[in-house]
Amino acid sequence: NHIKSLEGKTVLITAGPTYEALDPVRFIGNHSSGKMGFSLAEEASMRGARVILISGPSAQTTDDKNIELHKVTSAREMLNKVFEFYDHIDIGIASAAVADYAPKEVAKEKIKKNDENLTIELVKNPDILKTMGEKKTHQFLVGFALETQNEEENAKGKLEKKNLDMIVLNSLRDEGAGFKNDTNKIKIFTKTEKKEFDLKSKNKVAVDILDFVEAQLLK
Ligand code: PMT
Repeated sequence: NHIKSLEGKTVLITAGPTYEALDPVRFIGNHSSGKMGFSLAEEASMRGARVILISGPSAQTTDDKNIELHKVTSAREMLNKVFEFYDHIDIGIASAAVADYAPKEVAKEKIKKNDENLTIELVKNPDILKTMGEKKTHQFLVGFALETQNEEENAKGKLEKKNLDMIVLNSLRDEGAGFKNDTNKIKIFTKTEKKEFDLKSKNKVAVDILDFVEAQLLK
């Protein structure tokens, strides 16, 4: 008995971490489980949207046949997959925790244990969401900001710099928020508004985020 409030809309969601290979057995990654992104995908699907979910390595699964799930590994793969669809989406939500840097070279063989110190050179990865913002024509873009300090200032900075319509702040200083947990605590910012939400399940956080998006689209 859900109202199909996103019928006719295409929603693209990035989720999970990215893994940046060091050698055939190791990578640089982070603690994202993909839960936030999968919750958003399932909620958007219940609302009748076409849902494209682009996820980094994650143990999350979904039974929802309506969700088009694309699995990727690295930030570059995620970027390429996003831009296969970008022109044709109405709403883009970036909940992935994308690695900002990747090893400059991927060793062909397993790196051997030799010296006391090992230095690995890293190079900047593409910023997927920033690139989406630069190429924005009609898309409504929602970013996330995962912060540990100067949270609001940093979130608003990202809203501006990445040319977003809305940003969802979660702070690792709030207990039960951020990575892995089944719960999250968020604040939403647009250029003119701010709304703070209580700690709740990621499924319910997804409801709040999509309600907020829909309200913005009606403006
Ligand atoms: O997956 P879970 O365990 O459920 O955890 C959810 C979450 C904490 C990962 C999620 O709620 C979240 O905050 N995702 C964004 C994490 C992040 O990398 O934030 P950021 O402040 O570093 O990045 C800002 C925005 O730019 C994000 O929308 C991010 O997806 C995007 N970005 C960042 C870097 C990059 N190279 N490309 C990007 O697209």
